[in-house]
Amino acid sequence: MTTPNLKANNILNSLIRNYFKGSLIFSLQPEDAELMTWTNQRAFLDSTVHSELLKRYPVKNEFSKLFFKKLISFIEPYQEVHDDVYEFLCLSMKSESSDMFCYRHYVIGHSLGNIITIKETNNMVVNGTTGMRTWEAALMLADWALCNEDIFLNKKVLELGSGVGFTGITIAKHCGIKSIVLTDCHDDVFKAIRENILINFPGSNDTNKNELSDSQRNCQSNIDVMMLDWNDDNEIPSHLVPDIVIGADIVYDPSILQPLCNVLRKLFDKNVELEVYIASVIRNEDTFNEFLRTLENNELTFCTISLECSKLIDWNYNSKQRCLLKIIRNKIIALY
Ligand SMILES: C[S@@+](CC[C@H](N)C(=O)[O-])C[C@H]1O[C@@H](n2cnc3c(N)ncnc32)[C@H](O)[C@@H]1O
Repeated sequence: MTTPNLKANNILNSLIRNYFKGSLIFSLQPEDAELMTWTNQRAFLDSTVHSELLKRYPVKNEFSKLFFKKLISFIEPYQEVHDDVYEFLCLSMKSESSDMFCYRHYVIGHSLGNIITIKETNNMVVNGTTGMRTWEAALMLADWALCNEDIFLNKKVLELGSGVGFTGITIAKHCGIKSIVLTDCHDDVFKAIRENILINFPGSNDTNKNELSDSQRNCQSNIDVMMLDWNDDNEIPSHLVPDIVIGADIVYDPSILQPLCNVLRKLFDKNVELEVYIASVIRNEDTFNEFLRTLENNELTFCTISLECSKLIDWNYNSKQRCLLKIIRNKIIALY
């Protein structure tokens, strides 16, 4: 049986995770709201808005307002609301930040101490790119990678269409890789990836390098960023010979399917043993099937890897159709 303390901790944990990742999808049953005592409300504030992390990288003000209003509406009928909770709501109502960007904090695993912070937007498209936010497929792919660390151990990884960089940064931090290069084709996205690398690997700023331990230095020096436009006919630099290529939500535009396969072929030419993992949320089945046909026409073989539920990173496994493809060159491989 769950003790009240354990139950209160679970509720707190879940509220904090929702706040960190900017989600308003939460509710409290009356018996849960009862457990949000003055002390537990204080603990919520200390772990979120009063924490050093959130002071430095705040979540969107508009979201904060809605979150605190919703939280208060659940708690108010059953518990006295903490003065500081009201005070924080008032402060956020006064503030009129119109910044398009915000920070999201993704909890990795079960400890709230293990967080990837990403500067991103809520918008689907900004300045003509879809790359300025973290998409569901990025969470799925990172979760799968964390659960299959052995595949990545000591490997050279290249990410295609990295967007703001969540998947690549998570893999760089947690999968014991040798190196990773995050790539994209849009200037704003490129700038955002660099910023997000600095946030999560603060030592990657050259001026701080001397203050780091060897392991920190190794950890941060193995992550790099590169412009790579699939439509470009340029050769991929000769030093870039990945063992693994990853991509999240990069199969959505019929016009880039062949260019994307061209890049994969060039990478297979450099390393016949290359393994490619592409995660998709399938919005348009025709486009996705066209991608599978394009792979076949390019002598690439694929199989699907099943993704049943989220394990170490929260993603919504009840929603749309999703797929993780493993692609290799021209061999028949068994289905997982
Ligand atoms: C839907 S976003 C996915 C971003 C990230 N992987 C994620 O899942 O959060 C698609 C990404 O592919 C990139 N992209 C689109 N066309 C590209 C091209 N021709 N060459 C390189 N990257 C491209 C976009 O800039 C964008 O970052």
